[in-house]
Amino acid sequence: MAPSPRDADPFLQNAMNDVSEAVNKTIDRLLPQTDLAENQLYEAMRHGTLGGGKRLRPFLVVHSAALFNVDPSRARRVAAALEFVHCYSLIHDDLPAMDDAALRRGKPTVHKQFDEATAILAGDALLTLAFEILSEPETHEDPRVRCELIKTLAKASGAHGMVGGQMLDLIAEDREFDLGTISRMQRMKTGKLMAFACEAGAILGKASDPHRRALCNYAFDLGLAFQVTDDILDVEADPQDTGKDTRKDEQAGKATFVSAMGKDQAKDRAEMLVQQSVRHLRIFEGREKMLKSLAEYVLERRA
Ligand code: IPE
Ligand code: IPE
Ligand code: MG
Ligand code: MG
Ligand code: MG
Repeated sequence: MAPSPRDADPFLQNAMNDVSEAVNKTIDRLLPQTDLAENQLYEAMRHGTLGGGKRLRPFLVVHSAALFNVDPSRARRVAAALEFVHCYSLIHDDLPAMDDAALRRGKPTVHKQFDEATAILAGDALLTLAFEILSEPETHEDPRVRCELIKTLAKASGAHGMVGGQMLDLIAEDREFDLGTISRMQRMKTGKLMAFACEAGAILGKASDPHRRALCNYAFDLGLAFQVTDDILDVEADPQDTGKDTRKDEQAGKATFVSAMGKDQAKDRAEMLVQQSVRHLRIFEGREKMLKSLAEYVLERRA
């Protein structure tokens, strides 16, 4: 299924489709079908990664890397590795022990299509495969660059990043969190992997510290805005548009910006964060058009 950046302007829409097509080919190549006895694992990995998804994080990797004239095939490998971590996080997020969701990207979730144990293993295998890809010379000829990518993705994915945020998200079902804690939780859950997407472009391009920091700050703010809009879509969108279950957060008593400040104020907050994110890009002196368009799309998206 093609991604549907419905509310993107045509220029951005074309660029998003190009990235999706190219990254889908890379993912397909990295996850070959097999006739091994454990083939069910590969099928579950393919189910959880191919045929859907907006490929937003790959877009950020590819277009951040382009700012430094990085070889696109290298950027696509890093984009695929990050997408594997993202897809693993979704497969586990959908499990009955977490959000207990039946629909993802317009298809049954991995544990519904296969079973829970297979979904856990498919997630584990995608996470480890991501680091295997980053460690290979095809990703970058300089081993220091490969190590930096591995360390930065590990930090963004683990207890200080996505996994820590997911822990807070579960705790939030039984506890009242103030706005500061909700913001920290969403930045960890979603902001850290988004920040890696852009930082990876800078790492691949051996960018200067100010350029790397600017990209990282842009994506971190954009990531929080993205999670705020996800929380808004959970209350007001249709599963036919989002391709996933909606009304899940309130049912589970999850703390979100919407539960803490209401939908309208959450929308204002997302807008403020997007404006803030774009300001970090001024250092690129006009070459940031694509990243700026993406930030505007995050605010308007309906899926
Ligand atoms: C969903 O991410 C999970 C969040 C972090 C909000 P996306 O909305 O990017 O999901 P896909 O990749 O397009 O399916
Ligand atoms: C998930 O947040 C963020 C992850 C780290 C996977 P949500 O639970 O809100 O994501 P959706 O709404 O299921 O995509
Ligand atoms: Mg969740
Ligand atoms: Mg969820
Ligand atoms: Mg959500």
